Amino acid sequence: TSTPPPLAAPPKAPPPTSTVEASKRLAAWTAVDRHILPEHKVIGIGSGSTVPYVVERIVAQGKKVNKDRVFIPTGFQSKELIVNAQLLLGDVDQYPVIDVTIDGADEVDHDLNCIKGGGGCHLREKVLAEAADTFVLVADYRKNSSVLGTMFKQGIPIEVVPFAYTKILQNLHLLGSPNAVLRMAKAKAGPVVSDNGNFIIDAPFPEEMMKDPYTLLTRIKMLTGVVEVGLFCHMAKAAYFGNQDGSVTIK
Ligand code: 5RP
Repeated sequence: TSTPPPLAAPPKAPPPTSTVEASKRLAAWTAVDRHILPEHKVIGIGSGSTVPYVVERIVAQGKKVNKDRVFIPTGFQSKELIVNAQLLLGDVDQYPVIDVTIDGADEVDHDLNCIKGGGGCHLREKVLAEAADTFVLVADYRKNSSVLGTMFKQGIPIEVVPFAYTKILQNLHLLGSPNAVLRMAKAKAGPVVSDNGNFIIDAPFPEEMMKDPYTLLTRIKMLTGVVEVGLFCHMAKAAYFGNQDGSVTIK
């Protein structure tokens, strides 16, 4: 039998090089300090550029507490983060009930509804958000909003079955999003493919429709071939935003 290769050393995050990065780290660290307590043993790790700071802060809680924990990823990126930090990797099949999931967001409104899926991971992110007793959002100040879609203008990310994407685009146009488009990979090499082998559509809707995100979510979800919608309504218990002046806004 051959010995498995040694795991990579835990990551040392470089110091944030911009105010935005510093704000992400501030939000992430504050949320971990408040929500990831020693009694929490099953922890969901979201996706995006803010989440590495979540893992960084969890690692700082020490090996003693982390050796009794299992971490569930929302996708390839968070799986790598967990493994590289030498934390124990788990699966939602083994742990369908999660103590706390912390994730980033593209925009969050006053009622803690949010847009997610800028990175195309929102299906798995929603599964882990729903499985968690406590779901917490972390973001920089640019994501703190009153009406969804006013800051994140590329539209609602919608994961769709590849076979159905043209029909869904047509239906989204009829539903009120004439500029809905299939998300393309860099250099237009082809459509972006999610961790689940599906396509992503970005569908901007008028402000009037975005003011009632739950109704919009249910209408989009009804379209045949839609797998999941990047609107998370009534799911988060709290949201943390790092600000440029070093303060944290908590919703
Ligand atoms: C990926 C997501 C991310 O959580 C969201 O895009 C926020 O990312 P970032 O922390 O980089 O701003 O939903 O699907």
